[in-house]
Amino acid sequence: MKKVLLLSGSPRKDGNTMALLKDAGRVIEENGVKAELVSLAGKKVAACIACGKCEGAGKCSQDDVVNELVGKLRGSRGFIIGSPVYFGTPRGDLMNLLQRIGMVSKSNGKFLSRKVGGPVAVARRGGHTVSITEMLMFYLINDMIVPGSDYWNMAFGRMPGEVWDDKEGVETIERFAENVAWLVDLLESEKT
Ligand SMILES: Cc1cc2nc3c(=O)[nH]c(=O)nc-3n(C[C@H](O)[C@H](O)[C@H](O)COP(=O)(O)O)c2cc1C
Repeated sequence: MKKVLLLSGSPRKDGNTMALLKDAGRVIEENGVKAELVSLAGKKVAACIACGKCEGAGKCSQDDVVNELVGKLRGSRGFIIGSPVYFGTPRGDLMNLLQRIGMVSKSNGKFLSRKVGGPVAVARRGGHTVSITEMLMFYLINDMIVPGSDYWNMAFGRMPGEVWDDKEGVETIERFAENVAWLVDLLESEKT
């Protein structure tokens, strides 16, 4: 399970969020931990409908990308998410997905417990810290471990690729990725 799942919540397959997460995945692999990148581009994620059917079922009753990710998460020690900022908040589909995964975990033995990771936010100009805070709610209610970096996990950019001009942003995410890999390696080594 020396593996980190990285999820981009952007509808742009090759946008700024994806670029940052690809770079984070590269850093994670350089630090001896496997990285798998997944994108929500081209996918729709409906909201939790509070049906309660996930209780003991191990999956969500709405059988879509959420269940695919539940499977991938069970085999990963780390979970990093990235979102573009939309009107000062994370993209709606991503929050739908996080809320549904959280319910499946809580109703099925808390499989998210002590997984390591955290959120990354990308925006043209503003709304990063609110978006990071909203995404952090998922980690902190699900018994997960969130390491820091040299700054908050945010970067600036509007059109695809512009994020590379934000050197400090890129370096902040790279240090965060290094810390996630370091913790995953440490925690997984302790188990054996
Ligand atoms: C619907 C919409 C709302 C946006 N709202 C904001 C915003 O509140 N603040 C901001 O700085 N940028 C905003 N942006 C710009 C995106 O956050 C920015 O282009 C980002 O790089 C997109 O990431 P991506 O390339 O990974 O999709 C918005 C873009 C869209 C499409």
